[in-house]
Amino acid sequence: MVTSSYRDTYQRSVEQPEEFWLEAAGQIDWSTPPVKALDASRAPLFRWFPGGVLNTCHNALDRHVAEGRGQQDALIYDSAMLGVQQRFSYAELTDLAARFAGVLRSNGVGKGDRVVIYMPMIPEAAIAMLATARLGAVHSVVFGGFAPKELAARIRDAGPAVVVTASGGIEPSRRIEYLPSVAEALELADVPETPVLVKAREGFAATTADYPGWLDWDIQMGRAEPVAPVDVEATDPLYILYTSGTTGSPKGVVRDNGGHAVALRWTLENIYDVGPGDVMWTASDVGWVVGHSYIVYGPLLAGATTVLYEGKPVGTPDAGAFWRVIQDHRVNVLFTAPTALRAIRKADPEAELLKGYDVSSLRTLFAAGERLDSDTFQWASRILDVPVVDHWWQTETGWAICANPRGLEQLPIKAGSPSVPMPGFKLQILDGAGEEVEPGTEGNIVLGLPLPPGTLATLWRNDERYVSSYLQAFDGCYATGDSGYRDGDGYVFVMGRTDDIINVAGHRLSTGAMEQVIGQHPAVAECAVIGLADPLKGQRPSGYVVLKSGVDVPEDVLAKDLVALVRRDIGAVADFKHVTVVDALPKTRSGKILRKTMRQIADGEEYTVPSTIEDPGVIDQLIGTLRVGREQTG
Ligand code: COA
Ligand code: AMP
Repeated sequence: MVTSSYRDTYQRSVEQPEEFWLEAAGQIDWSTPPVKALDASRAPLFRWFPGGVLNTCHNALDRHVAEGRGQQDALIYDSAMLGVQQRFSYAELTDLAARFAGVLRSNGVGKGDRVVIYMPMIPEAAIAMLATARLGAVHSVVFGGFAPKELAARIRDAGPAVVVTASGGIEPSRRIEYLPSVAEALELADVPETPVLVKAREGFAATTADYPGWLDWDIQMGRAEPVAPVDVEATDPLYILYTSGTTGSPKGVVRDNGGHAVALRWTLENIYDVGPGDVMWTASDVGWVVGHSYIVYGPLLAGATTVLYEGKPVGTPDAGAFWRVIQDHRVNVLFTAPTALRAIRKADPEAELLKGYDVSSLRTLFAAGERLDSDTFQWASRILDVPVVDHWWQTETGWAICANPRGLEQLPIKAGSPSVPMPGFKLQILDGAGEEVEPGTEGNIVLGLPLPPGTLATLWRNDERYVSSYLQAFDGCYATGDSGYRDGDGYVFVMGRTDDIINVAGHRLSTGAMEQVIGQHPAVAECAVIGLADPLKGQRPSGYVVLKSGVDVPEDVLAKDLVALVRRDIGAVADFKHVTVVDALPKTRSGKILRKTMRQIADGEEYTVPSTIEDPGVIDQLIGTLRVGREQTG
């Protein structure tokens, strides 16, 4: 690949996208190489590398064995929960993925079929993903912190041929049994006969013996025939990953095979500066996009070693856990969420525990998932003495929209900014009328179409929702849902969402989904859930409810009920713990609840009450409650 500075590379990507991306595609092993980069025949739906044929699992595994890296570590499993470390070479991981592909095939999975994966952070989660890709099937991984109802919604939408799961996940405070949740979800989705494959783990109550017909991973693997990678079109789907939308029903982001492989491969070298033999540790979960791109596919496509960590930044056993993992596995690049850094800082402000470890292998720390606040940035930079790089992206984009491309050019780092747009992302900041704003002025961050390879192709079986959710608000552009500004040097500052999505400990959640759950309670007439600023988790949800007339229920009893309901229907990960009963909610004359104004008041920010408000008196009544509520819950 021609090496050049960031500016030249970016310019080339937007002025000559065909050449730029076909050249990047040269890093991938194709059965039939593409001769064309972009298919715009169905605009605004775009497809990358039409005519290209490949297999993503081959590129992530077999290819490296063929190139002589069979004995190199591909994946290191480190469980702080169990005190276990396990290493898998490229040759071993290839064999496991090939055999599990055989298991899936013998259970009826073929090209294009969906496989739902509901697993904790164990190597089998990555193996199941790679095996699905090997068959040309489509995986949909569901985060283990989601409750059966959320799992059911995803199963209903994806229609899997098989569900792959494990006995359960291990949280510091408890063990979470997955099998009853999977059974309940299949019932709720009305597909109780779906075949289920279970990786058994010790210490869980439920086993396959409790669920007639469910199959044991190890027994099936013992009998499995390895399967060779199946060719797929570049434009065929590799995975569906559901993410919170502004309504209760999650959006199934569809990622293709070709664009994904090309884009991720490019990012490893140019953004993360990771190549064959380097060790990359992404401390996230395979249930999130960050886990898909940088625990599983990215590092493996680049021939690097990936670390799969089952544990927390603190409490497993202490705030030195991250430094221990860096030392034990000679990690070169760490990628984590700011909330994890804040948790470590809270427990060990002067990083005393760091002194006990050799972290000299670490070259760079990357952060994403939420804004990297200046304090955390300064702290991490000081204690680790390596560049700390914020980068901004979304489930939909699959890789960074803005970053500081360390492998391409080490641009100056500015606290609070994820730096500059990456190739192919034609970033603009627009006001509500669609006009570009001046540098320094905040507006809607949008991306000109087409988006680059590796971004979402559409929403699963729902082109219409894709277009209406993302492409209609600003002509010819994809609306990111984030607001922000650019400074005079072109650095982007991402300030927050313009919709009802909140970010709790790096987890993206929909306040609309929580409101739907709360609204089911017989005492509740209406409600609003808003995300309040939180020093550890970035944001945390807080619910305001209006009771039906004539209902008399103590606030603490109702709060307990509602917290339990959200936990049951969405999951513990929502972290919904605060409820306040109010007389009325502020609304516009068209009935829209003024959540943003409520949040600004509660967070002590400046606010303007829209002129369309129905009854300004409601705001006056609420001011005290919102401020007091914040002090009590903060
Ligand atoms: N399965 C089941 N439950 C889960 C879960 C999982 N995979 N992950 C979290 N939960 C549960 C927790 O047990 C907790 O339940 P509780 O209310 O009964 O205690 C709840 O969900 C909230 O968990 P969490 O968000 O992890 O909060 P915490 O207070 O336990 O820990 C942090 C705080 C900051 C240490 C933790 O949130 C963290 O490590 N964040 C990093 C997140 C991250 O990497 N995100 C990826 C985006 S890049
Ligand atoms: P998710 O789809 O879960 O990755 O969440 C994406 C959203 O998280 C984005 O739209 C942003 O609101 C937020 N986000 C992710 N990374 C950053 C970042 N580096 N800076 C600011 N916000 C971020």
